[in-house]
Amino acid sequence: MAFYIGIDLGTSAIKVILLDEWQIEHAAISVPLEVLRPYAGWSEQNPDDWWQGVESALDQMAHTCSEKMASLRAIGLSGQMHGLVALDKDDTVLRHAILWNDTRASAEAEALDRDEPAFRQRGGNMVMAGFTAPKALWMVRHEPDLFARINTILLPKDYIRFCLSGEKISDMSDASGTLWLDIAGRRWSDTLLEACGLSIEQMPKLVEGSQLGGYLRTGLCQKWGIRQPVIIAGGAGDNAAAAIGLGITQPEQSFLSLGTSGVVFSVTDSFVQQADKAAHAFCHALPDSWHQMGVILSATDSLNWLSETLGQHVPELLAQMNTEDSAKSLPLFHPYLGGERTPHNNPNAKGGFFGLSRTDNAGDMTRAILQGVAFAIADARDTLDIADKPASQMIATGGGANNTYWLTLIASLTNCPIGVPKHANTGAALGAARLGMMADGMHIEQVCYAPEMAQIIKPDVRLAQALSNARKTSKNIYQLTSELYSFK
Ligand code: XUL
Repeated sequence: MAFYIGIDLGTSAIKVILLDEWQIEHAAISVPLEVLRPYAGWSEQNPDDWWQGVESALDQMAHTCSEKMASLRAIGLSGQMHGLVALDKDDTVLRHAILWNDTRASAEAEALDRDEPAFRQRGGNMVMAGFTAPKALWMVRHEPDLFARINTILLPKDYIRFCLSGEKISDMSDASGTLWLDIAGRRWSDTLLEACGLSIEQMPKLVEGSQLGGYLRTGLCQKWGIRQPVIIAGGAGDNAAAAIGLGITQPEQSFLSLGTSGVVFSVTDSFVQQADKAAHAFCHALPDSWHQMGVILSATDSLNWLSETLGQHVPELLAQMNTEDSAKSLPLFHPYLGGERTPHNNPNAKGGFFGLSRTDNAGDMTRAILQGVAFAIADARDTLDIADKPASQMIATGGGANNTYWLTLIASLTNCPIGVPKHANTGAALGAARLGMMADGMHIEQVCYAPEMAQIIKPDVRLAQALSNARKTSKNIYQLTSELYSFK
């Protein structure tokens, strides 16, 4: 029997799974990660911590599943997108990685978006602070000495590939999020790189997600007792990988992810640009396939913030909510705690409760958060070109996907049924392992099937009507208060 590993380098944890060729899971290991926030708006991690986490998870797997590891055929990689990992000429990491939810490069993003129309035309996207390109320009302006020493720029999961294989390679889906990719042509763009003082020589080689993207170093094969050469697949950015894990490979198939960030993802069979609406248009992890995405920055992270602030665990907060209150409009909540991407593209946006009463408690604030995130998800979905088409279905994934109350709000506000998979293992790590299987020669039809559903949550039209004024008012409050966000 052949075995496959999927590695997902998330923001709060690294997840590693071991599957057989029938996709039965034999082991799953999760290693927590810390985010460093030295200044407001900064979000960093040390790439060495990622590698130590991955190496220790694989050491553990080799120890507990030695026979299965011996028959390992391929590894697939998935990871948090947009992070900037800078290496010098000796391949030493120059500084901590600047992550996807870091907003320090807002002035640089604005400048590139204003002065370089090629970013929207060829790069397919409005330039947003979280993408990689403005971060490099931030280094040009604020860390010129370090910038001058950059020999290679890698994305987070590709740094793991470098440690595993010694090769500098990326895949199309993750490379899209740098904003240096010609999205329609699926190649690096000289023009976009030059706008940030970079050249193609500093970028990794590109492959499709389901193609060969390196081999595991012989020394690591020996250390983990693996008998044959192990392929490393191109892999994918975590959202495209999650799509592969959910069997979302065909045009208009769609998923909703409720993780640290919130994502609405829809496959397209060509490059569909919606940059003016701050929707993302990226390559999918399969050849000749693209996708659109609306991204909100704080989905479950808004709940985590409340949990840290009130000193109560998230399940405790959820238990205090009155679930009869789904049509209640006050208090309202804006989840823009770390700025917002879709639809506002405002890295300086801030969160807020509005309409609090003396009688409101932790349960009321929790309900407001779930509702505010649901409004934000519905706003993000409205920017995609699927928004006006008859709703088919979104498959739910991510930590928030087990909350039926939350999913009912979102299904109602987006007027789109939401499928809830029976097994929770339908994440990016599964998608990564599936890309490994395809790189090993298995066919997409054989590998990329949809998960069995536990339930389909239907839109509740009356709930959507009851909340429509609150949603409009919430949007108006954003317009009225956005001036506040220029205050320091
Ligand atoms: C997508 C994005 C996030 C990260 C989270 O554009 O920034 O979903 O990939 O891991």
